[in-house]
Amino acid sequence: MIEQIEQVLQEALAAIDAADTPEALNAVRIQYLGKKGSIQALMTKMKDLPKEEKPAFGQKVNGLKTAVSEQLEARQAALKEAVQKTRMAAEAIDITLPGTKLEAGTTHPLIMIQQELESLFVGMGYKIAEGPEVEDDYYNFELANIPQDHPARDMQDTFYIDPRTLLRTHTTAMQMRELEKAKGGLPIKLICPGKVYRRDDDDATHSHQFMQCEGLVVGEHITLADLKGTLEYMANTMFGEGRKVRFRPSYFPFTEPSVEVDVSCPFCNGKGCSVCKGSGWIEILGAGMVHPHVLEMNGFDPEKCSGFAFGVGLERVAMLKYGIDDIRNFYMNDLRFLKMFDRFD
Ligand code: PHE
Repeated sequence: MIEQIEQVLQEALAAIDAADTPEALNAVRIQYLGKKGSIQALMTKMKDLPKEEKPAFGQKVNGLKTAVSEQLEARQAALKEAVQKTRMAAEAIDITLPGTKLEAGTTHPLIMIQQELESLFVGMGYKIAEGPEVEDDYYNFELANIPQDHPARDMQDTFYIDPRTLLRTHTTAMQMRELEKAKGGLPIKLICPGKVYRRDDDDATHSHQFMQCEGLVVGEHITLADLKGTLEYMANTMFGEGRKVRFRPSYFPFTEPSVEVDVSCPFCNGKGCSVCKGSGWIEILGAGMVHPHVLEMNGFDPEKCSGFAFGVGLERVAMLKYGIDDIRNFYMNDLRFLKMFDRFD
């Protein structure tokens, strides 16, 4: 019997040693220390022993139990440590490895100009309006006083989707939507930046898609002088202090009078250089007083109110401001071009 105890001990120690996973070790525990395990089996055999041998036997089996338990615990701790070591090795980070460079984008130069204009006009209390690029002929032309036979309606100039639907040719379409929405309510003070489309052949100064930002103010006693002051402020903010603004007569169906607006050349301060072609002035936008008929069509009384409107091309402003000589650069997605603007971001 005593030899049997020794044998169980040796077997158990060997089995514990051989168990190389926590699961295997648990199976060994059950095999030896479980209710139906070998050690319990030895205990049950005690009742067959003569009375005087029982204490010594009991002691031995208890010793066996303790030895096996201790060995199991030690093995369990060792296994746990090994598992942790393997995991740490697998998760180890080599901080000396070069990192993966994240390609960060930059704001597109046209969006920069748009944001500059937005904050400049929001600062003066203007709202920013939005409208669809796929537009109804009604808002793009009809409400803007552009009659059926006007050359702007020509298939040569406009992308038509169907006879009544087109890609807006100017942000004036948004102005008309806003005027209609206001239902004669005053005052109106808003800008509408956005993309516009025309059937132009692309070259250094023309693009079939470009961006405009239009401004519209309607209220009591609004005059051409208000327009001039506003544009002067805009020119000084966008092109630097000291800019002057000059009006030349022009024609737009939706404004009367209409003007072409020049800014004194920011490159030579009006003295004359290659950018302004020696004139000292650079044309930047079209503007005028909202045509009384446009006000009327939209439910405003031209006897009681008046308004001014202007429309500026964002590419034109960006080209002047950043010295860009080809409008196509804005639409080519050439990273060498786009990355130049991260310093303005
Ligand atoms: N809509 C005109 C254009 O696209 C610009 C403009 C806007 C002119 C508002 C006058 C008033 O050229």
